[in-house]
Amino acid sequence: MMIRNSIALVTGANRGIGAAMVDAQLAAGAAKVYAAARQPVAHADPRVVPLELDVADPAAIAAAAERAGDVTLLINNAGVLEGGDIFTAGADAVERQLVVNGLAPLRLAAAFAPALRRSQGAIANILSVVALAPMPGLASYSASKALAASLTGSLRASLAGDGVSVHAVFPGPVDTDMAAEIDMPKTSPADVAAAVLAGIEAGDAEIFPDAFARQVAAGWAQDPRAVAAQFAA
Ligand SMILES: NC(=O)c1ccc[n+]([C@@H]2O[C@H](COP(=O)([O-])OP(=O)(O)OC[C@H]3O[C@@H](n4cnc5c(N)ncnc54)[C@H](OP(=O)(O)O)[C@@H]3O)[C@@H](O)[C@H]2O)c1
Repeated sequence: MMIRNSIALVTGANRGIGAAMVDAQLAAGAAKVYAAARQPVAHADPRVVPLELDVADPAAIAAAAERAGDVTLLINNAGVLEGGDIFTAGADAVERQLVVNGLAPLRLAAAFAPALRRSQGAIANILSVVALAPMPGLASYSASKALAASLTGSLRASLAGDGVSVHAVFPGPVDTDMAAEIDMPKTSPADVAAAVLAGIEAGDAEIFPDAFARQVAAGWAQDPRAVAAQFAA
């Protein structure tokens, strides 16, 4: 699908990659962007419609789908990261991140599926390279992204016959609040957003939007165990 004249909804649109996605879509000629956030923020561009949405709240998702029935592109971006290994993070951390990172994209996809079928639209789920192999220091986050990746694959198959494309995005480290503690080279949110839109327009099922992600993808294609070992180290 083309971004020009699209009507997008971006979750977690108030900062980080989500805010960059909003701006990239405006620059690419989107007709309207619903900027969904727990605390919506005003935007100077009149094409932006701020929308209150806590993605952990299924009733709020249903209300958003009712309000934004003209959406042609759903960007599931909202996410949370809690660090810690499998023992220190604990089951509660797993549960919290599963709700936001794993279940919410599925619930949003289901709620917006009628609109996306009507428009022959698209869904992009912002996952992470740790969906491919876990980083043990981010055990619960990795698990939540792996769940989201699996559901994204099922979603793609289930919507293929309806003309809705589903894109899985696997970024490496990005320079946002979420990665503030991560001491690695980071890509700018603007560059990630541009790569995501280019991937959607190109029809890429899997989008690796930065150099680190592309390096992981190449390694993964050759030897997944080597990537897992690298992440584990
Ligand atoms: N930064 C990285 O290195 C990196 C790498 C790979 C993938 N990602 C993924 O990229 C996505 C965006 O992350 P980011 O780097 O932009 O992080 P960020 O700057 O921390 O932003 C996270 C966004 O998610 C929102 N959010 C969290 N819980 C929410 C909820 N229950 N309902 C609605 N919105 C919620 C936050 O809203 P509030 O302001 O209300 O908290 C914020 O807008 C996430 O899915 C993340 O996992 C990030």
